[in-house]
Amino acid sequence: MCGIVGYAGSLEAAPVLLKGLEKLEYRGYDSAGIAVIQGDKIDIAKAAGKLQVLKDLTANGEKVPGHVGIGHTRWATHGEPSDVNAHPHLSNSGRFAVVHNGIIENYQQLKEMLQKKGFSFISQTDTEVIAQLVEYFYQGDMLDTMIHLLNVLEGSYSLGVLSADEPERFYAVRKDSPLVVGLGQGENLIASDVPSLLAHTQEVCYLEDREIVIIASDRVRIFDTNGDEKPVRSTHIDWDVSAAEKGGYEHFMFKEIMEQPQSLQKTVSPRLKDGGIVLDDFHITREMLQNTSKIYIVACGSSYHVGVVGKYVLESTTRIPVEVDIASEFRYRQPIIDERTLMIVISQSGETADTIAAMREGKAQGARVLAIVNVLGSTIAREADDVLYTWAGPEIAVATTKAYSTQLVVIDLLALKFAELLGTMPEEELAAYCEALANLPAQVEDVLADKEKIQYWASQLYNKHSIFFIGRNLDYAVAMEGSLKLKEISYIHSEAYAGGELKHGTISLIEQGTLVFTLATYQPLVEKIKSNAEEVRARGAYLVSVAVAGDKQMAAVSDVVFSVPKTLPLLQPSLTVIPLQLFAYYVASQKGCSIDQPKNLAKSVTVE
Ligand code: M6R
Repeated sequence: MCGIVGYAGSLEAAPVLLKGLEKLEYRGYDSAGIAVIQGDKIDIAKAAGKLQVLKDLTANGEKVPGHVGIGHTRWATHGEPSDVNAHPHLSNSGRFAVVHNGIIENYQQLKEMLQKKGFSFISQTDTEVIAQLVEYFYQGDMLDTMIHLLNVLEGSYSLGVLSADEPERFYAVRKDSPLVVGLGQGENLIASDVPSLLAHTQEVCYLEDREIVIIASDRVRIFDTNGDEKPVRSTHIDWDVSAAEKGGYEHFMFKEIMEQPQSLQKTVSPRLKDGGIVLDDFHITREMLQNTSKIYIVACGSSYHVGVVGKYVLESTTRIPVEVDIASEFRYRQPIIDERTLMIVISQSGETADTIAAMREGKAQGARVLAIVNVLGSTIAREADDVLYTWAGPEIAVATTKAYSTQLVVIDLLALKFAELLGTMPEEELAAYCEALANLPAQVEDVLADKEKIQYWASQLYNKHSIFFIGRNLDYAVAMEGSLKLKEISYIHSEAYAGGELKHGTISLIEQGTLVFTLATYQPLVEKIKSNAEEVRARGAYLVSVAVAGDKQMAAVSDVVFSVPKTLPLLQPSLTVIPLQLFAYYVASQKGCSIDQPKNLAKSVTVE
């Protein structure tokens, strides 16, 4: 979704802003703009379309001189993608400019109030209201103006604000929308996400909701809504610039697929110690678990699919009932929650609006919240009672791969830790699982080594109009992810079905040549899924199976088999998903799709 950058320093601001916006392109956008202060005047350049249009318009920033500025990539919510609706928005006098990420829920009332006071509007956006409000409230003191603003705005927002009266600095604030401050040497910045700061600094400050920050080249100051100054909290980020570069790969998605063995290693190995599991920032005791009557796993998209795996794994290891919910449904369905409820929220970004809202709802009703998050200092990480980080590094491609894989192993580690605490798994079995977890990165490496075969079959099958994925139990959970991966980047219609459920309706869609992926890696149910494979084959389906190496039975009923190594049953999804990620990638590549930024999608969905 929208991305914000801001710069104050000795460099020309516009090129820095454009570079910063490049690093936020992955979030998804349809227009872009920058505003820079020069003397006591604000210059604006903005345009619908890709960032290149803005770069051409400004000669890579040269036509907009000055050392303090703000920039924005817009993902349209109010009003079509157009030059006029693009940010920054100027106030009527041209003395204030605003960039905004989020949604102002009461913008209509505010707009009507401002119109009555004589303000005029040129865009259809909710953001233009903020620019006019700043002008309306301004009595010579910008901090005071920002406090007024916070008191009237409803909704979610992160903002960057320029005032022509203060050419040495700019203002920023966040509420329920991500914003990070970069603390540099002789320069300071803001951005919606860390990758856009890394070329300048690895020292950052994560803002709390409703903190107002004043950014100048030599100083960052933070204030609360009473106008009291607060200390600047600095966090060192362990990612270097190369982590957010393609590093010779054609697409971030492919780079991230190939990085999975390392990400898994980083996520798993520090947590396996002396034959046991050591989880950082984890304060759940045996007594708490014994007192837990239900676990909810709540997330969106691929993170939800990890939750579906989690249900099978956690119920199997702990025998505690687990429900998995899509976050946007959970918050409105009056879930039954009390102090004996444990809620596990899963999110790569830690900023997904629906997941945040569901988490807050759960906490308000007394649940303990454990978060599985990739982005350090994100909202979910800050608000949860316990946090387990996935050490996947920055994930830039919209379609998640390494974040999904690392979430899976964190769920596995958690399930084994719970079993250890509760004594619900024999010691030898627990030890065997720890050993198998430690072996996963090498096994994933083996699957990746077979990528040419998957590439070949993608080149043969990419022109299908509809593809089904079937599986049972954990294979069904992985089928959901395989199907989502394919549809989000290749735009091929696809559905995931529980193998046994097909004949209750959907099998009527199977005809001669329909491509069906059968996931047959969950060993306890291979016989059963084989029967389902036979059923679709008998109706003309072209069958691609994912099976464990050496499975002759599945080979006998399939047109093509992608083999994966065998591991212990509960860990198998970590291997089964890899060929599906590669297949989706190669199909999308064959079709010439925009792989890293699929149409209509945003990396981090920060609005409801
Ligand atoms: O950042 P989150 O994990 O909370 O994001 C959730 C979903 O938006 C995300 O997994 C989405 O489904 C991906 N595009 C899937 O590849």
